[in-house]
Amino acid sequence: MADSFVLNTGARIPSLGLGTAKTEPGTVGEAVYTAVKIGLALKKLFEESVVKREDLFISSKLWSGNHAPEDVPEGIDTTLEDLQLDYLDLFLIHAPVRTEKGAVRTAENYIPLDVPATWGAMEKLYDSGKARAIGVSNFSCKRMEDLLAIARVTPAVNQVESHPGWQQTKLRALCQSKGVHISAYSPLGRPGSPAFKGPSFLSNPIVISVAEKLQKTPAQVALRWGLQMGQSVVPKSTNETRIKENFDIFDWSIPDDLMSKFSEIPQIKTLRAEFVVHPQGLYKTVEDFWDGEI
Ligand code: A2P
Repeated sequence: MADSFVLNTGARIPSLGLGTAKTEPGTVGEAVYTAVKIGLALKKLFEESVVKREDLFISSKLWSGNHAPEDVPEGIDTTLEDLQLDYLDLFLIHAPVRTEKGAVRTAENYIPLDVPATWGAMEKLYDSGKARAIGVSNFSCKRMEDLLAIARVTPAVNQVESHPGWQQTKLRALCQSKGVHISAYSPLGRPGSPAFKGPSFLSNPIVISVAEKLQKTPAQVALRWGLQMGQSVVPKSTNETRIKENFDIFDWSIPDDLMSKFSEIPQIKTLRAEFVVHPQGLYKTVEDFWDGEI
């Protein structure tokens, strides 16, 4: 298994990334604080020649309040400033919905997104070189097909929640057939998140038995499953031991007979998209948001 996948731009995306987003619905202030901290850390690493910019693949998302086409340039400029960078390797439309500029990102505040207009603004960022690849996040098959029909620059990535408990089989097949790479956020299904109420797939007997056979942890098996399905995985952890565990997924593999067992795992869909759903909001159910595809 290579440690990267080739995007439709020709650039390589690492198959494993480190997620830094907050798990709770964020405010602009929290996101900026995190970005500035990361920016300072990157600056130090570059100054001390620990790592070169070109050896990193840095991806970020357009904030929900900046999705109006006229606000997109400011969106990337703010991110670049916070991160103290000249360009991003990948910039994603956060979701196929937006909030008004400056509004708190809560489910009640989402309003429809004019995807062609926002995508047009993203294409300009790609043309300018500030974003070396552009893509989307949380796009269903239907939304993806609508976007592909109007895109001048084909999205390089659709980043969605994906893991053995929500395998996104149909979406991955569509994206892969169109040359759009799937990147998985919450590839561990956010164990321990207060937003998540069902049983974790990490304690599913199939995942546990594969882990025992391979002498790996259920989390490692889940991440490795993602890689073998052709998607990059971005597990989030602030714990050094677990970060090391999550990065130790390259010198072994899940054999075909065990990979095939994953199709028997119940699809529990832990649904980060719950943040978009509210009885008074634009989307009343998660099924609405995903165009009935889940
Ligand atoms: P922590 O930061 O304490 O390690 P996801 O990436 O699916 O959104 O999941 C993130 C959550 O999973 C975080 O709460 C993180 O906690 C936890 N986590 C990260 N790596 C592992 C692991 N290897 N085993 C169990 N939990 C993990």
